[in-house]
Amino acid sequence: MKLNVLLLEGIHPVAETALTGAGHTVRRIAGALKEDALIEQLEGVHLLGIRSKTNVTQKVLESAQARSLMSIGAFCIGTNQIALEPAMRRGVAVFNAPFSNTRSVAELVIAEIISLSRELGDRNQEMHQGVWKKTAAGSREVRGKTLGVVGYGHIGTQVGILAEFFGLRVLFFDVASKLPLGNAQSVATLDGLLEQADFVTLHVPETPQTKNMMGAPQLARMKKGACLINASRGTVVVIDALAEAIKSGQLHGAAVDVYPEEPEASDMKGFKTALQGLHNVILTPHVGGSTLEAQENIGREVADSLVRYGSSGTTTGSVNFPSCELGATPNTHRLTHVHHNVPGVLRDVNRLIGDAAANIHAQLLSTNSDIGYLMIDLDVPVTKQVVDGLKQLPTTILARSLS
Ligand code: NAI
Repeated sequence: MKLNVLLLEGIHPVAETALTGAGHTVRRIAGALKEDALIEQLEGVHLLGIRSKTNVTQKVLESAQARSLMSIGAFCIGTNQIALEPAMRRGVAVFNAPFSNTRSVAELVIAEIISLSRELGDRNQEMHQGVWKKTAAGSREVRGKTLGVVGYGHIGTQVGILAEFFGLRVLFFDVASKLPLGNAQSVATLDGLLEQADFVTLHVPETPQTKNMMGAPQLARMKKGACLINASRGTVVVIDALAEAIKSGQLHGAAVDVYPEEPEASDMKGFKTALQGLHNVILTPHVGGSTLEAQENIGREVADSLVRYGSSGTTTGSVNFPSCELGATPNTHRLTHVHHNVPGVLRDVNRLIGDAAANIHAQLLSTNSDIGYLMIDLDVPVTKQVVDGLKQLPTTILARSLS
């Protein structure tokens, strides 16, 4: 089935290539759209691609113009800009690309470990001011030192693997049981890790448990002269406590990419943090995941999810739909059905299929507490007839024939 796609906000061209390659018609609008302008543009649109600056609100989703909308691709990491639950209740599956910038963050962290160890940030600033400070004081190799990774997930594991190539010993602490990669070793407690590591790098999500996870007591637990790197979330570190630890010489340095409060705009002047002007502190404006490669990966991954959902109904990776993937079988005819998760839906669906004299070749149902998502392959091409019947059911949110 050919679908109409609307891409906003300068999404990477690889997305358009993937979508047109799958036979869909792509229309582009360069910038973000405000609510009413977005509603106006949605007439006849099946797949919508946005980045972080377009808000898809409940009003947008419930507008008459959005009635053809099947899916939204968030060509970014977060999905806060989309009313996910209303989208789910309308039968609109949302996809994003949470791990396409993993490597970008890991590479920045590796660069920072070496930069902190050699005080590169300070030497660079001094040279720009004409100060020639040729000294080995405070400058060390990383080989043979210990790296402590807090949060051994997608980014933490990548950092650990890369760090070993530089001769670092890798320890990690995670609340979940994790398979150590390479020669990394798990440590049972955060304190246990802090006491051993020359570099501590944080890769945990923002949760109530990780809020202020690195405050004054934890910084005091770290080895004297160790360095801290935070490219996870700004709430994880108590900035004032970190500034104190640097000033007192408890820590040799820090690299910080994320802050408790960050400007919304991508370009602003006058940003303030207590870490400014401190010795051997590298500050970056939340650019850990911001590389051209990551943008391209995001474009490809999200477009692939939209293409898969459009052609086969696969919802794997959706942030608001039950996950469902049914392998393709030749000479079968697929339909998908989104419905309210109440008793008796399967009975009604299967009765309609039986009435159409079709045999079910394969059927897969996945549910969450609100909706069910059903994929069905029939042995005869009666999906339109069945879909028309399904649309009459009071429990149906969306029914679609894919053949
Ligand atoms: P992930 O979900 O793959 O890994 C997070 C790990 O932290 C998991 O293994 C989890 O079990 C562990 N964890 C959760 N709570 C914990 C706790 N209290 N103590 C110890 N471990 C805990 O996440 P991923 O992709 O590795 O991302 C990590 C962080 O990096 C996230 O906060 C994410 O928002 C941030 N990030 C930052 C970017 C930047 O530009 N600076 C770009 C991409 C991600």
